Amino acid sequence: MVHELDTFFKPKSIAVVGASRDSRKIGNAALKNILISDYECKIYPINPKEKTILGLKCYKKVTDVPGNIDLVLISVPAAIVAQILKDCVKKNVKNVIIISSGFGEIGRHDLEDELKQIIKNKKMKILGPNVMGYKNASIGLDASFVYGTPRKGNVALISQSGALGIGMIYLANNEFMGVSKIIGVGNKINIDDDDLINYFAQDDDTKVVGLYIEAVKNGRDFMNSIKACDKPVLIVKAGKSKAGARATASHTGSMAGSDKIYSAAIKQAGGIRCRDIVELFDMARALGGQPPLKGNRIGIVTNGGGLGVLLTDACEENGLEIPKLSPKTYKKIDKILPDLINPNNPVDLSADAGFYRYETATSALLEDPNIDGVIVASVHGGYARPEEFTGAILKMIRERKLHEEYKKPILATWVGGKEFEDLVWDLKSAGVPIYPSAWRTARSMLGLYLEGQRIKKEKQKKKGQQFYFKEKK
Ligand code: COA
Repeated sequence: MVHELDTFFKPKSIAVVGASRDSRKIGNAALKNILISDYECKIYPINPKEKTILGLKCYKKVTDVPGNIDLVLISVPAAIVAQILKDCVKKNVKNVIIISSGFGEIGRHDLEDELKQIIKNKKMKILGPNVMGYKNASIGLDASFVYGTPRKGNVALISQSGALGIGMIYLANNEFMGVSKIIGVGNKINIDDDDLINYFAQDDDTKVVGLYIEAVKNGRDFMNSIKACDKPVLIVKAGKSKAGARATASHTGSMAGSDKIYSAAIKQAGGIRCRDIVELFDMARALGGQPPLKGNRIGIVTNGGGLGVLLTDACEENGLEIPKLSPKTYKKIDKILPDLINPNNPVDLSADAGFYRYETATSALLEDPNIDGVIVASVHGGYARPEEFTGAILKMIRERKLHEEYKKPILATWVGGKEFEDLVWDLKSAGVPIYPSAWRTARSMLGLYLEGQRIKKEKQKKKGQQFYFKEKK
């Protein structure tokens, strides 16, 4: 089935109103981004003064363009946006992105109301105003005015803040986190978070949805969209403190609302509230490539006792259990440990642990029916050989033991310096969720656990419904 935002994200023709020859202007950057996109579509610059811009024929108005326009980007001062939008209605344009600022965020709600009035009872979809646009990495289209090319992947990102959205592109690249789409929603006069969650729920290229929000316009629709989404929805809700709420009001002109109500509503709808963007990315990397946790019992493998204790504390603090080893697993691991060390959970492989010990202990934990997921940790120091730690994880991933055989997740943690970090890049680029802190690893495991619980509840609900319908018959 074709979704109503399909032509918005995959337009066959795009016009840029306010396209300019001046490379310092946003209208120039927006046109250039579309032009250099690895995506084929018709492109129409609109500017009343120019004949050509960036080698493309220029039109005075959208109504002068021959043929249909699926998407219009508007980058002219706020005062003339309404007139442009009326032209778009006349031209039967399907979707509009209003980049221009100067609306509700500075108290000019009257200008926003005028735009709403123009599209009242029309099918047209509008993103913004006050937005960067979007980057659709799944198909290679850049319909934004900002720099940065995200890596292609399965996480869809929605940001109420344009600048933060731009920062997220770079952070995601740095973390080797692939993105399907990244979009700024700005003042949300028409396309809202719930519309996008609904779209990403059915988008085959998206496995995880992440949002940065300051305020929600329609709480019920927002909750319903999360409930209906059969994918993890990770949310950073800002404006928690009194001063933060004040900052929200002056940033996007919206009310932050009661933080406790937001937390409870997100939880009830099945979403996961993240403390900040880094945590959202940590969880997204885990959820994007690993199976969810079926239970909360975690096995830990480490070459450093201290790191094992830190991980244990962090897991327990987040509601995850570190159970004792079963006699069978104890025996398997005992065989590979030096004589003076007894296996335990956390399994301390000792400082000189190499490839074989890491691989055997991790596999033993994954095979244990009393363990739902494994954290593999390494401290760079003493006799430690980080490349044997990373090599063992890569081998297990390559052999697909984690996903196909055991359907259990594995996360990794490290403590060390530059030499270790270079090896960590290899793991990150292979899609292994690895973190430089025990706390971040435990929180990411919690994300996998909460997703596992959501799936379990959904299954139970469906079973209950089937039973109900059978009874009714
Ligand atoms: N149709 C098409 N183009 C028109 C036009 C019309 N009716 N009227 C004017 N233009 C042209 C201008 O002549 C100009 O082209 P030129 O460079 O060839 O002269 C171009 O549109 C842009 O207009 P200009 O007045 O130069 O505006 P600007 O580019 O300096 O600023 C915005 C426009 C939208 C970028 C600015 O008002 C703004 O809102 N900036 C903030 C954007 C932002 O940060 N958004 C949120 C991001 S998260």
